[in-house]
Amino acid sequence: MQAQAIRQAFLEYFVEQGHQIVPSSPLIPRNDPTLLFTNAGMVPFKDVFLGLETRPYRRAVSSQRCMRAGGKHNDLENVGYTARHHTFFEMLGNFSFGDYFKREVIGFAWRFLTERLSLPPEKLWITVYEEDDEAADIWIDEIGIDPARLSRCGEKDNFWSMGDTGPCGPCSEIFYDHGPHIPGGPPGSPEADGDRYIEIWNLVFMQFDRDSSGTLTPLPKPSVDTGMGLERLAAVLQGVHNNYDTDLFKPLIAAAATLCGNTYGSDTATDTSLRVLADHIRACSFLITDGVLPANEGRGYVLRRIIRRAVRHGRKLGMETVFFHQLVAPLVAEMGSAFPELTLAQREVERALEREETRFRETLERGLSLLEEAIAGLAAGAAIPGEIIFRLADTF
Ligand code: GLY
Repeated sequence: MQAQAIRQAFLEYFVEQGHQIVPSSPLIPRNDPTLLFTNAGMVPFKDVFLGLETRPYRRAVSSQRCMRAGGKHNDLENVGYTARHHTFFEMLGNFSFGDYFKREVIGFAWRFLTERLSLPPEKLWITVYEEDDEAADIWIDEIGIDPARLSRCGEKDNFWSMGDTGPCGPCSEIFYDHGPHIPGGPPGSPEADGDRYIEIWNLVFMQFDRDSSGTLTPLPKPSVDTGMGLERLAAVLQGVHNNYDTDLFKPLIAAAATLCGNTYGSDTATDTSLRVLADHIRACSFLITDGVLPANEGRGYVLRRIIRRAVRHGRKLGMETVFFHQLVAPLVAEMGSAFPELTLAQREVERALEREETRFRETLERGLSLLEEAIAGLAAGAAIPGEIIFRLADTF
């Protein structure tokens, strides 16, 4: 099942269950100074959970674009090296604002996965918060989950918060077993950090608002927030283990490989750099579409760091000239129909990336000359002076 069809199936299923489709908000949260970026599907609904805003619906469904680079949820440095880290991703989510709660959301999630998507039930493993007997009972007694496939975990794994403050609550996660050929143990076991059992869906039972002192105040009405990464679900449904092998990334990796004259699958370093480019063109293009420009602080600085990371990996692939902006067109071809705002912003995105890469390459050249001069002036075995190292890191 292609990503576009998965997105559509998710939205349709929840419309059938009485949910209102809400289009993705921008990556810059509206009226929320506590957050750098929209990092989860619930962010646009934060004030609704808190009872500060009302909407004409109590059930919503969305495919929300998200960024996890900078801030509480920050995956930037892992991107390229792992099968599942991304700076930019899409989160499928269904939401109840004081309407349904645990029983209904667990039933919806289970039926969507096993009936609508026909995933084999025995491949699905469940976790609940250690004190949440109610959720455990629903899974075992009503859904019929084998208790051997359910584990209870502590706050670190099964209590979700959007940031240091804001709505939060215990959660129940659904994992997919990618098979015994991949090392790793079930969730909650000592080998859980392996790659065999992958979390695909997080069902958050929103119950509290956390303030800056850490105090939890009950929300006006118990609510539901769920998040399922489209990229992970696409991997499951396309029978691959690595998100970068799905149709969301393959065309971008192929475009980057053609541009750089490389082949994906040839060696580890090349593959890492190609994955970095495929991930970062998504993040940078959507950030610029949503109004961020490279800068020395805040959101613009995160964008600048992502562009620079992409350019550095491009250089590793042999790209001696400005190139990164040429990946915008293949991205628009893939995602422009789901996100028309990206298509509209295409030229602006290309120009901003070209300008930033040109500037960065000049800076980098000056920095490399400075480094070479410093090394040339050193006696054998001597250290580069700290002052030069500082200038390289700070300015170049
Ligand atoms: N809001 C649920 C999640 O991001 O996992």
